[in-house]
Amino acid sequence: MKLTLIVATDKNFGIGINGDMLFYIGDDLKRFKELTMDNIVIMGRRTFEALPNSKELPNRTNIVLSRNKLDLKEGISVSSIDELEDKLGEINPNKEKEEFLIGGGNLVNTLWNYIDKALITIVNKGYEEVDTHIPNLFNDENFEVVSESEEFFDDKNQLKYKFYEFKRRV
Ligand SMILES: NC(=O)c1ccc[n+]([C@@H]2O[C@H](COP(=O)([O-])OP(=O)(O)OC[C@H]3O[C@@H](n4cnc5c(N)ncnc54)[C@H](OP(=O)(O)O)[C@@H]3O)[C@@H](O)[C@H]2O)c1
Repeated sequence: MKLTLIVATDKNFGIGINGDMLFYIGDDLKRFKELTMDNIVIMGRRTFEALPNSKELPNRTNIVLSRNKLDLKEGISVSSIDELEDKLGEINPNKEKEEFLIGGGNLVNTLWNYIDKALITIVNKGYEEVDTHIPNLFNDENFEVVSESEEFFDDKNQLKYKFYEFKRRV
C-alpha cells in the first residue's frame, strides 16, 4: 500500500480543532478537488463526519475507517488496516487510481509508514488553538522535499501559504 497524503497544515503541522479544520483557503480546496477527482480518498471516521453534511466526496471512491461498520450511502466502510489493504487490492488492482489519505490526525499517524508521497499546504502561521497534528515532515529523515511552490496569499483569511511535495526516500 502506497498512499499519497494530502492535508493543509499550520506551520507547526496542526490540522484541526474541535473536529473542524483550522482554515479554509478557496484555492487550496479547489486544488484538493482537482487532484483527488476520480481517484480514491481514504479517511478516518471523524474526518468523514466533518465533511459537508457528512456526505461522501462526489466523483471519488470514498473509504472510511471505523472500528464499527458504518452505514454509508456510497462510500466503503472498513474496520482495520488489513481490510483497507484488501479493499484497495480489490478495487484498484493495477493501481491506476491514486490512493489519497485525506486525514485526520489519528489515521495519518496510524498509516504513517504507508505514506509514499505527501502533498502539504502549509500556512505561514501557528494557530494557538489546535488539538490535532500530524508529524513534522521536515523532521522526518525518511522524507525529502521534492517541490516547493512560490508563496501565495489568501485575501479572505489574510494568510500566506505554500504547496509542498514530500517523497519518501528510497
Ligand atoms: N487540515 C486538513 O487538511 C484536515 C484534513 C482532515 C481532517 N482534518 C481535521 O482532523 C480532525 C479529525 O482527525 P482525528 O484525528 O480526530 O480523527 P480521524 O483520524 O479523522 O478519525 C479517527 C477515527 O478513525 C477510525 N480509525 C482510526 N484508526 C483505525 C484503525 N486502525 N482501524 C479502524 N478504524 C480506525 C476510528 O473510528 P471509530 O472511532 O469509529 O472506530 C477513529 O476514531 C478534525 O479536526 C478535522 O477537521 C484536517
